[in-house]
Amino acid sequence: MALLVARGLRKRFGDLAAVDGLDVQVEEGECVALIGPNGAGKTTALNLLSGYLLPDEGHIFFRGEDITRLPAHARVHRGLARSFQVMTVFPELTARENLLVAILAREKAARHALRPVRAWRQAHEEADALLAELGLAGCAEVPAGSLAHGDQRRLELGIALSSRPRLCLLDEPSSGLNPLERAGLLELVRRLAEGRGVTFLVVEHDMDVVFGLAQRMVVMNRGRVLAEGPPEAIRQNREVRETYLGEEA
Ligand SMILES: Nc1ncnc2c1ncn2[C@@H]1O[C@H](COP(=O)(O)OP(=O)(O)OP(=O)(O)O)[C@@H](O)[C@H]1O
Ligand SMILES: [Mg+2]
Repeated sequence: MALLVARGLRKRFGDLAAVDGLDVQVEEGECVALIGPNGAGKTTALNLLSGYLLPDEGHIFFRGEDITRLPAHARVHRGLARSFQVMTVFPELTARENLLVAILAREKAARHALRPVRAWRQAHEEADALLAELGLAGCAEVPAGSLAHGDQRRLELGIALSSRPRLCLLDEPSSGLNPLERAGLLELVRRLAEGRGVTFLVVEHDMDVVFGLAQRMVVMNRGRVLAEGPPEAIRQNREVRETYLGEEA
């Protein structure tokens, strides 16, 4: 059974159909890149999948369950997490505290009957392990707002993973980073996917950025899927090239 299935999703803003009959499917264990030019509807699609917006039409199934109308927090609870295109760390809190907030929120939602002291100690250990995994062990005490941009992006990824998702939706995780930082961040996503068995759907508008990361690419244009397939086939797809490069048919 597919992990995530979306069928016929539509979302209008006034006269504009930002998402206009979108069909996507994500299998457990794969890393899918959702790419497309500015304004294609990628962020809107992620907002629909994660429950930050409700679709006008269509259905979303997660592990076979119809989640189309479930609120975002209920989706997180079922194992569907996301990060945002715009930075969402708490700048005044340290890197460790940012993770602690997310970890303790999960524990509270799960209503674990742990004694507070024990819960606190376990959350600390988990936060430190996650910081190490993110390559942020040396920054535990640094306020998130003072971290380098690339490190803030890593921390956001950690916050999304703190809910222990099965599927993690990332909206341009490497935006604003230089090419070296981008490569490092995507390598981190690859490692996390393998090490933790998390399935990723990663939004990007630069196809080259996700080329080495994704096993499958879904190309959006004008609110719907223009093409999908393995990266090499997508790169050679004539319609995709026209969309990106404005090449003549
Ligand atoms: N809340 C909103 N109200 C009105 N229009 C919106 C809203 N959100 C998005 N849009 C419009 O919907 C279209 C799709 O936007 P969306 O942000 O989903 O695109 P995107 O593919 O994520 O683009 P980018 O690559 O720039 O992030 C755009 O034309 C955008 O202006
Ligand atoms: Mg976007």
